[in-house]
Amino acid sequence: MAEPLLSVDHVRSGYRGGDILNDVSMQVHRGEMVAVVGRNGVGKTTLMRTIMGLLPLRAGDIRFKGVSVASDAPQKRARAGFGYVPQGKMIFPFLTVAENLRMGERIGGAAGSLDRVFEMFPILRERLGQHGGTLSGGQQQALALARALAGNPQLLILDEPSESIQPNIIQEIGQILQRLNRDHGLTIILVENNFSLIRATAQRAYVLDRGRCVAELTTADVADRERMLRHLSV
Ligand SMILES: Nc1ncnc2c1ncn2[C@@H]1O[C@H](COP(=O)(O)OP(=O)(O)OP(=O)(O)O)[C@@H](O)[C@H]1O
Ligand SMILES: [Mg+2]
Repeated sequence: MAEPLLSVDHVRSGYRGGDILNDVSMQVHRGEMVAVVGRNGVGKTTLMRTIMGLLPLRAGDIRFKGVSVASDAPQKRARAGFGYVPQGKMIFPFLTVAENLRMGERIGGAAGSLDRVFEMFPILRERLGQHGGTLSGGQQQALALARALAGNPQLLILDEPSESIQPNIIQEIGQILQRLNRDHGLTIILVENNFSLIRATAQRAYVLDRGRCVAELTTADVADRERMLRHLSV
């Protein structure tokens, strides 16, 4: 098989209190949409922060297109093509929609990707002058996703985009992710707990537990509600 776009090899990482991830390995190939699931507090966010370089690697390696990025700062990874939609949206509430998007362009070192973003999120074009913090929850999630896309990423990492979002908006997010993956060929890692969103979008999944990837789920597994619910947070 071709070289993975992202390869996470025996990663150890955590906080001052100790390691959370002991030995995590996963591979994501170009064009894939892969879910990462696991119960509350197993370290899904910790893993995404480590992949982005926001938390230091204590052991192991992270390679992008075969080249180690382990010692690269988050800004360098963003410029190399990593896009990140953190858990809890984390838009800049006191910046306008336009400023949030410009920030995304700068972080990704890209400019001129906004037309595609507005085509996907027409509401944001209408709200360009509004402060991010005054948008609805669904619109803030759209802005967080749009901000990441404004950097024109090759790998998009989303951490629980459905969290505290209404079901109809979750469905819309699912459709947008499908378009990005299937039509635009964007490679996506999706940390999720919402079974419907995972089933609608992910081609396979990794299950995180006790600081490791304990299972790799196939497309058939991902469509199996009973099986998936065992691995999702309640
Ligand atoms: N900044 C931090 N400092 C110390 N410990 C932390 C910090 N952030 C998270 N942790 C701990 O690390 C562990 C993993 O947390 P993490 O947020 O990665 O889990 P998660 O799988 O994303 O959970 P959730 O499903 O709730 O989002 C938890 O025990 C958590 O308490
Ligand atoms: Mg989390």
